[in-house]
Amino acid sequence: MTGSRRLIIAVDGPAAAGKGTLAKALAERLALPYLDTGLLYRAVARRVLDHGEDPVLQGEQHAKAIEPADLERDDLRVPEVDRAASLVARQPAVREALLERQRSVGRVHGAVVDGRDIGTVVFPDADLKLFITASPEVRAQRRYRQRHGEDCQDAELLAQEVAAIVARDEQDASREVSPLKPADNAVQILTDHMDAESVLDRVLTLLQERRA
Ligand code: CDP
Repeated sequence: MTGSRRLIIAVDGPAAAGKGTLAKALAERLALPYLDTGLLYRAVARRVLDHGEDPVLQGEQHAKAIEPADLERDDLRVPEVDRAASLVARQPAVREALLERQRSVGRVHGAVVDGRDIGTVVFPDADLKLFITASPEVRAQRRYRQRHGEDCQDAELLAQEVAAIVARDEQDASREVSPLKPADNAVQILTDHMDAESVLDRVLTLLQERRA
C-alpha cells in the first residue's frame, strides 16, 4: 500500500448498500477526492430520457457530451432515472465513453471511488477494494429513508422498493460488460447490522492494519 497521496480506494456494491455514505466519509477523513461514478450513468440516463430516447439503445453520444452541470441536477436520484441508468450502463459504448473520465480523476489526485466495477475494471490496481452490501430489505428501507426522511411503515410500498432494487441488481450483475461483482481481492462488508459510523470505523481499522 502506498502513502495517502494518490491512494485509490474502490467502493463497489449493489444499489443503496451505503457505498456513497461510506465513500464520502472516507474521502473526508483521508483528504481525498470523492468520485461518485453512478452519477455519471445517472446523468447519461437523464439526458436520454429528456430527449425522449430509449435507454436500452441510446446513450453513447450523451456519455461523450456530459458537462459538469449535468451532474448537478436535482432530478438524478428519482426512480425513473434509477431504472434508466442501469439500462444505459449495459451498453459497452457508454461504459467506454465514461472510462477515461473516471480514471483521470483518480490518477492525478487519488480518490475514493464509488460504483459497481471500480475494483474490477476502472481501477483494477486500487490500493484497497471494498464490496459493501446488505440484504435487499435493509437496502430498500435505507433508500426510502434517504428519499422521504423517515422509515417506510407501509409493507406494500416497501415490497415495491425491494422489487425495484432486486431488479436493478439483477440487471447490473447480469450484463456482459463490467458486471456488478466483487473483485477477487475485495474485502466484503455486510452492513445489515452496522450503522454508517461502524462501517467507517471498520474500514479505517482495515487501512491501518494494511499500512502497519
Ligand atoms: O445509489 P445507487 O447505489 O442506487 O446507484 P448508483 O451508484 O447511483 O448507480 C446507478 C446505476 O449506474 C447502477 O444501477 C448501475 O447500473 C450504474 N453504474 C454502473 O454500471 N457502474 C458504475 N461504476 C456505477 C454505476
